[in-house]
Amino acid sequence: MKCVKVPLKQLNDTRIKLMEKGLMNMEYRIKTSEDYGYIPINEDVNDYEIVEIELEPMKKVPHNFSELLEGELSSEEIENLRTSFDTIGDIVILEIPDNLIDKKQIIGDAALKFTKRKAIYMKKSAIKGTTRVRDLEFLSGVDDSVTIHKEHGARLKLDVREVYFSPRLATERKRVMESVSDGERILDMFCGIGPFPIVIARNKNVDIAAVDINVSAIKYLNENIELNKLKGHIKTYCGDVRQVSHSFNLKFDRIIMNLPGLAYTFLDVAVNLIEDGGIINYYEFSDSYEQGIKRLENACSEVGKKVEIINCRKVKSTSPGEWHVAIDGKIN
Ligand SMILES: C[S@@+](CC[C@H](N)C(=O)[O-])C[C@H]1O[C@@H](n2cnc3c(N)ncnc32)[C@H](O)[C@@H]1O
Repeated sequence: MKCVKVPLKQLNDTRIKLMEKGLMNMEYRIKTSEDYGYIPINEDVNDYEIVEIELEPMKKVPHNFSELLEGELSSEEIENLRTSFDTIGDIVILEIPDNLIDKKQIIGDAALKFTKRKAIYMKKSAIKGTTRVRDLEFLSGVDDSVTIHKEHGARLKLDVREVYFSPRLATERKRVMESVSDGERILDMFCGIGPFPIVIARNKNVDIAAVDINVSAIKYLNENIELNKLKGHIKTYCGDVRQVSHSFNLKFDRIIMNLPGLAYTFLDVAVNLIEDGGIINYYEFSDSYEQGIKRLENACSEVGKKVEIINCRKVKSTSPGEWHVAIDGKIN
């Protein structure tokens, strides 16, 4: 873990300064030795000594959340309560099973008390429709659904009621960012509020075209471009990528296709826009990699191209036996 090392007498002032700048990594505990304190950080900071040491992670929130509800709900109800909830900036989104709906207010208030975030919302529907947004019900705190989420040092502003965003894809975005080289021309076909473009352009000197059909998502992406210090350049396009793509008069070195339910129906667009030797980061929901690989192969053979699969991985579980899978294909 990357840490700022400071003499003990400067520990508190430095901690406050780093917290105010959003640079402190709140997921790990500060460590002290006889003379020094070690404060976990999200990114390199100037003017301090940076060292790598092992730190103890903070206790997992869901575990404590369950404990907080003891006495309010029966142990069986706590057992049934799905404690894995999503924290997006200063908002918490809970999934409450049907058998605990009567207790939603107690659960919401407990979540507010424990997490000390601004607002608690409850999932009211599955992710749905073209814009991949779900209905939310306000439970506790302040009913303000706009927040700024921090991910790998990036600041991502969004309205949880208006746009798709999943903090659970953070590791995947970092992995893709790390595989990008300076100078790449990248198309994100389904960019949302821009987590892939922002995380990549903060770290790499690239040119990114970012497309989304959701007006609100593009509005927030434009704000996120201003909120972050970028090495690369991002140009935004609002509309159906099948239509928008007609205006591109260049090919791309990388195309990101994170619309896992429907990305396969846009593979024809992607294989036409990819540069020879370029990479398609393709996503779908599946119980295996075979279906996605076949779809990539078929889309390529339609236009006389070939795909070399360079990596496959499970991004996250979506339901028993089904995964959000990632397949990276090099197109020749
Ligand atoms: C699963 S979300 C992914 C967003 C973003 N890539 C992320 O990781 O947070 C898919 C996005 O695709 C957008 N979308 C759906 N159909 C589209 C289309 N035909 N053209 C452009 N964007 C589309 C939705 O509005 C949504 O923001």
